[in-house]
Amino acid sequence: MEFEHVEGDLAKTLITEDELHAKLDELARQIESDYQGKDLLLVGVLRGAVMVMADLARALNRHIEMDWMAVSSYGSGTVSSGVVRILKDLDSDLTGRNVLIVEDIIDSGLTLSWLKANLESRGAASVEICTMLRKPDALKVEVDVKYCGFDIPNEFVIGYGLDYAEQYRNMRGIGVLAPHVYQ
Ligand code: XMP
Ligand code: MG
Repeated sequence: MEFEHVEGDLAKTLITEDELHAKLDELARQIESDYQGKDLLLVGVLRGAVMVMADLARALNRHIEMDWMAVSSYGSGTVSSGVVRILKDLDSDLTGRNVLIVEDIIDSGLTLSWLKANLESRGAASVEICTMLRKPDALKVEVDVKYCGFDIPNEFVIGYGLDYAEQYRNMRGIGVLAPHVYQ
């Protein structure tokens, strides 16, 4: 879906589809070089990371595997609770694997710092994080992020996998939701 179909719901457009793809190409080249000669398991966090995973995986000119987890740290609202629950676990055994967690966004950092520690405890050779977006002003815990697409302001964003009440995930770019939508 293009911006123009939900223009009235957006306060502003933040990142275009072209900018997202250019950034993913850049990250893919770094990842190829860092993981040369090593196996690579991409772990996507459902549901927000679906678009990032699909585009990053195809931007990588090498063999990869993909697996998925679903965790929950949010209710239906827009504020992190800090409580992480596994809704769907991985199918893969992580023993000795090089794991790259693929995320849409790091907000407080609570979800990812918990997830990284959780995957490390399963005997992975390495666990790193790749996120498309990060909100530096919202961070509550330090998270070691190896690959980050864009640092963005502390506003609620939608599109490219990110939702408000399960809507807008199929928007091609990323935008800031207009307050009238959620007030
Ligand atoms: P934390 O705070 O634990 O949260 O880093 C990460 C998860 O929170 C969701 N999230 C958002 N979803 N627009 C969204 O659509 C946002 O601006 C936003 N900020 C956080 C997201 O699911 C992410 O995985
Ligand atoms: Mg979400």
